[in-house]
Parts: sequence; structure tokens; C-alpha cells
Amino acid sequence: MFLPTPTPVPSMTWCLPGCSTNLLTVPGLETPPLAMRGDERMGGDRGLPFEHVPVMPKEVIHYLDPGPGKTILDSTLGGAGHATKILEAGAALIGLDQDPNALSHAAQRLEEYGDAVALRQLNFSEMLAAGREICPEGVDGILMDLGVSSHQLDCAERGFSLRAQGPLDMRMNPDEGVTAAEVVNEWDETELARIFWELGEERKSRAVAGSIVRRRVIKPFRDTLDLADCVSRVIGRKGRIHPATRVFQALRMTVNREMECLEAALESAPALLKPGGRIAVITFHSLEDRMVKRFFKSRSQPEIDRPEWPAARSNPDFCMNRVTRRPVVAEPDEVKKNPRSRSAKLRIAEMRKVGAS
Ligand SMILES: C[S@@+](CC[C@H](N)C(=O)[O-])C[C@H]1O[C@@H](n2cnc3c(N)ncnc32)[C@H](O)[C@@H]1O
Repeated sequence: MFLPTPTPVPSMTWCLPGCSTNLLTVPGLETPPLAMRGDERMGGDRGLPFEHVPVMPKEVIHYLDPGPGKTILDSTLGGAGHATKILEAGAALIGLDQDPNALSHAAQRLEEYGDAVALRQLNFSEMLAAGREICPEGVDGILMDLGVSSHQLDCAERGFSLRAQGPLDMRMNPDEGVTAAEVVNEWDETELARIFWELGEERKSRAVAGSIVRRRVIKPFRDTLDLADCVSRVIGRKGRIHPATRVFQALRMTVNREMECLEAALESAPALLKPGGRIAVITFHSLEDRMVKRFFKSRSQPEIDRPEWPAARSNPDFCMNRVTRRPVVAEPDEVKKNPRSRSAKLRIAEMRKVGAS
């Protein structure tokens, strides 16, 4: 399905056993089996089984409508829950994940689909180059299922969990960017308060930042429970949600530059999709949902009007139609079985067909 490509991409890349392509180039990795191992180098998980229940799988398949002859780019492969359903429907799959550990688990799970699958360890902000290289004619669908997987949360050593002791890391790609410990121990108080407020919507953002800065002078933060405890003392315990949840979320979003990467990926999506191709984005955070909503709106309006203009002007970015005006949410039954789906919002847009009005 995926043809050999002459251009090497500077990232870990491999194709599955039995694949007829030359994607078995793995710069920086000696052999594919190493990539399959889920060891320390891969952001290891000490053999923890990969548990992640895909959110709104029925709805994703309904709107992306994968089938024979189609290629879907899953830009957040994770445990390959959605990807498996896409392949079962007969489509080919390009799978991306910036987390090498997720990718190695997904590779094992998708092994049986052979050369219908091409996988890359890549941030989805760079999906345009990879997508064009693997599938120059464009893809029929793009899936973005944002945030972290349950598996990443379950691995204490990744540092995402505020309930299990681990190093304050939180990087989805363990080879890139700053760790949460660096942010917490080195950023100034105003900046910390800003991210807690903007990304975590934490009402006590300034008090939390102040407390962190006073404590780190005595002893820098190194592990998750230490930070969770310091934050909880300021916020106080109320209800079932852990008091440090919003601060941890803000740190994770900062460390992984989640808003910037989402923006870059959305901007590149229209250039990757074929006419009639669809993009489906699942968000779990109001800021992300707002960004997706605004992006789809900005690409689906034939005209733009501003109060200072004498008349509306045609929109040079007009290239999509929104498939649903309102976000799709999980059915009560799914929320009962998979509480993670409670806050999920799915938005879908479709590329206009050439000549369509
Ligand atoms: C919610 S999980 C996806 C689960 C997947 N849909 C499934 O059914 O198993 C999100 C995954 O996306 C990855 N991810 C998040 N942000 C990313 C980015 N900017 N680029 C590439 N992968 C990303 C994470 O590492 C994680 O494995």
C-alpha cells in the first residue's frame, strides 16, 4: 500500500514485519526489535500492559468512514484502539505518536495488518511532511485524539500521575523538551501563576505559584507526590477530584507545548487532506476545544466581515465545511463504562470538493 520513498525523514521510523516498503530505516535506532521492547530508552513502562479504552470509537468510525481504498492518518496512535477499528474497516493507516513507548506497543498490536500500516515517531505538528512523503496524493481522513493515554498516566515513572510516586517528568517524548521538574524549579513565580491560570484554570494560581517558589528554595521538587502534596496544602481538599489536578494538567500542557502543537497541526491539515477528506478532533480541555472550534469556523466561512469594512470580503482560507455545528459527546452508556469520555468533545470538518459552492 505504501510505496518506498527516497527521502529519509529524521525521526524514528519503521514498518511492520512483512511490509514491502523501505520504511525500515530507523535513524538512531539499531534494529526494529529494540524499538519494540518498551524499555527505558523508549520511555519504558517495565512491561506494564497497555490499557487504554478509545473514546467514542463508534462516532469516530461513523464520521471518518474508513474503508477499502482509503488512507487515514491517526496522528495520536496511543494504544491503537481507534487505529485497529480503522484497519478493520479496510482502510490503510498512517500512525503517528511522539511517544516511542506508545508507538512500540501499537506496532505490536498492528503487526497483523502488515504493509497497510506505516508508523512514525513524530509530533503531529510535523505531520504535513510525513503525510506527504508517505501518501503524496493526500489522505482521506485525519484523527487527533488529544492528551495522554491511560497507559501514560498509569506508568508512575513517566511522571504524569499525581497519585503515584515518580520523577517529575511528564514529557510524552522523553528525548525532547523540558521536564516538569525544570519548569517547577526554574520558572519564575509570575510565569508559573500564568500557566496554572491559563492552562489549568486554577483559581488559586498565584497562591500555588508562591508556595512552590518558597518551598523549592529549601528543597527542589523532584517527584510527583511531593509536588502534589505542596499544591494540595494550598488548595485544600474538596470533592472527589484531586486538588492538584489542574496544576498537573497545566504542567503537562506546558511541558509538551500542547496548544502550540495543536495549532500547527490544525494549520497543516487542509494541505494533507484530499477533497472530501475529513478531520476528526477529540479534545478534553476547553481551551483545546475552543481552538478547534475557531479553526473550523475560520476555514468554513465563505466570507469574513469586520465592523470597520464597508462590506464583507471573501475568505481566502475558505476550504472546509463543518460536518457538525455542535461537538459530538459520548453517550451516557459510554461515560458509565469509560469515565474518561465524560469531558470528551468530538468536532469534525470536511474538505470542500473542487467546484462545490
Ligand atoms: C488519548 S491517547 C490516544 C489513544 C488512541 N486514540 C487509542 O485509541 O488508543 C493520545 C496519544 O497521543 C499522543 N500525542 C499527544 N500529543 C501528541 C503530539 N503533539 N504529537 C504526537 N503524538 C501525540 C500521546 O503520546 C498519546 O499516546
